[in-house]
Amino acid sequence: MKKFMLLVLSIGAITLSASNKLENATCVKCHPKIFKEYENSMHKNASIYNDPVHKAIWDLHPAKKKGNYKCAKCHTPADRDLVAGKTSLAKTDIQTKEPISCLSCHQIESIEKHKKANKNIYTKKEKTFFATSKEHKGTKLLYHDKSSFFGLFKTRVGSPYHDIDYSNENFYDAKMCLGCHDHKQNGKEFMICDMQIKKSDSSKETCITCHMPKEKGSFVNLHDSKTHRFHGATALVARPNRLSKHLLLTLEKESEGFTIMIENKANHTLAMQPLRLAKLKVTISRDGKIIAQEEQSFQKVIGTNGKPSMPWLATEVLSDKTIKAFEKRKVHFETKLEKGDEIVAKFGYHIVNPKVAEKLGISDKKLLEFTVLTKRRFMQK
Ligand code: HEC
Ligand code: HEC
Ligand code: HEC
Ligand code: HEC
Ligand code: HEC
Repeated sequence: MKKFMLLVLSIGAITLSASNKLENATCVKCHPKIFKEYENSMHKNASIYNDPVHKAIWDLHPAKKKGNYKCAKCHTPADRDLVAGKTSLAKTDIQTKEPISCLSCHQIESIEKHKKANKNIYTKKEKTFFATSKEHKGTKLLYHDKSSFFGLFKTRVGSPYHDIDYSNENFYDAKMCLGCHDHKQNGKEFMICDMQIKKSDSSKETCITCHMPKEKGSFVNLHDSKTHRFHGATALVARPNRLSKHLLLTLEKESEGFTIMIENKANHTLAMQPLRLAKLKVTISRDGKIIAQEEQSFQKVIGTNGKPSMPWLATEVLSDKTIKAFEKRKVHFETKLEKGDEIVAKFGYHIVNPKVAEKLGISDKKLLEFTVLTKRRFMQK
């Protein structure tokens, strides 16, 4: 108990405010597991100082010359002074330590829909964080409702540091992700990124259940909640295996060759970000020899006047082979299968299309290599 009171006292001095202050340093004291995962996430790395890909594109972007870092509302919302136009882009602690902070998500009250890009509306209540709860759904837990901290150790009665609001629907249906993730047009009103989210009657999965699955370990160190939601959403340090079950590969033998079907169980288009390059790689091993099949790419190419171009210049879709929400894409191969054949199918992506990377001067192996998202082996009997 003594240790706990000290903790409460030591953070008592830190207050959250509407201007620029590091916030995550407070949360780590009580939510260390989540903080640790967050440290490896793409959200932690969303600024030009942490993400070499974002930097490479920003360096070429015409807005850079004007000093107008308009990416801030999605890539570095925790830098509130920058978003508000009070400061210009500079290497501050917020940019390097928490460009998208814990509060950049947990204080999203609602999403305003716009043609160009949606917008996050943040609550003005400084210490109120949104979350979900089966037991408390629709209610608010106010920490000062409790006169004593003792109860905290036995039951879930709230946080000694902040209020929790369990009444925000956007956290139950995962709309809170869509202020940043839904779509984005360029200055020419051309859609450069669009998740093309679809509703499903059969699937109950949401952005949160798929990308933030429940993992072992308590979400708070003041009592044991058994599980917490994974906070490491990322491509770079991906543990893509946790998503494999949402991408199914099946094989169908035909008289003229065979078909591999990729079933996308996600409610959005895969690898729609123009830099990504998704691929299907298939090999057949027969009598100790490997027969490689032609690689298949699934990407969208955008451009101007019939030629590929940078996103801010693009005015047309040149080709679109991306796999849409809930789509079952069939790919035909001509090789005739024989008894004893072992067919291996791998579906994955390059985070940065190697051809584009060369132009951008990006050479980090992790960004260029083929990352397998799902893989399956089939034996011909
Ligand atoms: C002094 C410890 C402490 C600090 C500091 C703290 N929290 Fe908490 N937080 C708690 C406790 C305890 C709970 C659990 C309440 C319960 O289960 O009834 C909680 C619950 C939460 C929840 C809701 C979890 C749920 O599903 O019920 C969120 C979200 C949250 N905290 C976010 C944060 C963020 C973001 C920060 C930093 C700005 C932070 N917390 C700082 C102790 C703390
Ligand atoms: C409406 C919100 C929003 C705005 C505004 C925005 N982005 Fe993004 N950006 C995102 C999201 C969300 C992702 C992750 C998309 C994905 O991986 O599917 C992303 C990803 C990227 C990536 C790929 C990152 C990587 O590591 O592969 C680049 C590059 C990028 N953005 C550049 C920019 C630039 C430059 C600007 C400003 C001129 C900008 N973005 C403005 C939301 C936004
Ligand atoms: C990209 C948005 C995002 C960021 C960034 C984020 N969270 Fe969360 N967090 C969520 C969502 C969504 C949930 C699930 C909502 C729920 O079930 O309460 C969640 C759940 C939680 C929970 C409680 C539920 C559980 O079982 O884990 C805590 C505590 C929490 N977050 C703390 C933090 C802290 C601390 C940070 C910063 C280190 C942080 N979050 C950063 C979106 C985010
Ligand atoms: C404040 C804006 C914002 C919010 C809210 C947000 N994200 Fe992100 N997210 C981003 C940006 C920006 C990136 C790309 C970061 C970079 O450039 O390195 C990203 C990256 C990601 C990635 C990795 C992308 C990849 O290509 O592998 C995943 C997965 C992701 N977000 C899921 C979510 C989910 C799920 C939610 C809701 C719980 C959410 N995000 C909420 C801005 C946001
Ligand atoms: C049924 C599970 C499922 C649901 C629901 C889901 N995703 Fe995904 N998501 C995936 C899979 C599988 C991938 C591909 C693996 C990867 O890219 O890491 C993916 C990829 C992504 C990426 C990486 C970049 C890309 O273009 O492929 C982002 C960002 C993302 N999802 C965000 C979201 C958001 C936001 C939502 C809510 C609208 C959502 N996801 C809902 C399974 C899901």
